[in-house]
Amino acid sequence: MPYRADWCKTAEMVPPLSILITGASAGIGAATATALAPLGHRLVLCGRRPEPLQALADQLGALAVPADVAQPADRARLLERTAAHLGDVPDVVIHAAGAFALGPVAGDEANLLERLWPVNVQAPYALAAATLPAMIRRGSGRHIFIGSVAGRRCFPGNGAYSATKFALRGLWGVLDEELRGTGVSATLIEPAATDTPLWDPIARDASPGLPERRAMLRPEEVAAFVVFAATRPAGVVPSLLTVRAER
Ligand SMILES: NC(=O)c1ccc[n+]([C@@H]2O[C@H](COP(=O)([O-])OP(=O)(O)OC[C@H]3O[C@@H](n4cnc5c(N)ncnc54)[C@H](OP(=O)(O)O)[C@@H]3O)[C@@H](O)[C@H]2O)c1
Repeated sequence: MPYRADWCKTAEMVPPLSILITGASAGIGAATATALAPLGHRLVLCGRRPEPLQALADQLGALAVPADVAQPADRARLLERTAAHLGDVPDVVIHAAGAFALGPVAGDEANLLERLWPVNVQAPYALAAATLPAMIRRGSGRHIFIGSVAGRRCFPGNGAYSATKFALRGLWGVLDEELRGTGVSATLIEPAATDTPLWDPIARDASPGLPERRAMLRPEEVAAFVVFAATRPAGVVPSLLTVRAER
């Protein structure tokens, strides 16, 4: 097979893409938006809190759509506003919205799974289900799911979160099979612990095995892998990427 120079394209060389990012107001999603904007891509940013979302969108020249991706009506409005702004279904959807909580399964009266499932699993499933038909008709598109090390390894206290991230891994794996030959692809990126606001409510003594925040991955480091996956040329599928810190 002849050598194709575009396989070695850097992110800077890729023509402008239209990209929807959920969970864009903080953490990994915000770092990804911040890395993609200077490359000239057209971004739609989604998160629940309007103020930080709008502030980032103004800074990056992006469209902010405040929405709760756990709510079907919000998802429909998000997709309508995205299509109206971009003129088509996005080239790339980055599913970075996520919720996290720790606690043993035994005696979980808060039913953490009920809180985490709609954001971590139902939302990416529904957004993929709604956008894939148009992507498949067009013959191009990417869904990039932010999974977690907790989607392949089991840690005590992680019952609800791990259940959602193993489920997300299942969704990605099925899509990886279903989408073959369509020009549309699914990527799963599984970072280890990353120093984002997700950890702010977690007391360190609640889970003694956790790394210190300064030893965790930084959101920009994870964002670099998301940008890499988003900007691969057609015909190359970055299927599964795991990311961990070693320092
Ligand atoms: N941090 C880690 O250690 C780590 C490691 C592996 C994987 N991950 C995964 O990476 C993804 C991003 O996590 P992060 O660390 O960047 O978390 P984060 O700093 O807490 O940011 C989460 C983002 O998701 C948004 N969000 C949460 N619930 C939402 C909802 N219902 N609808 C719309 N937006 C929502 C938040 O904005 P609003 O609050 O304004 O809605 C925020 O923009 C998550 O899927 C997480 O599970 C994180």
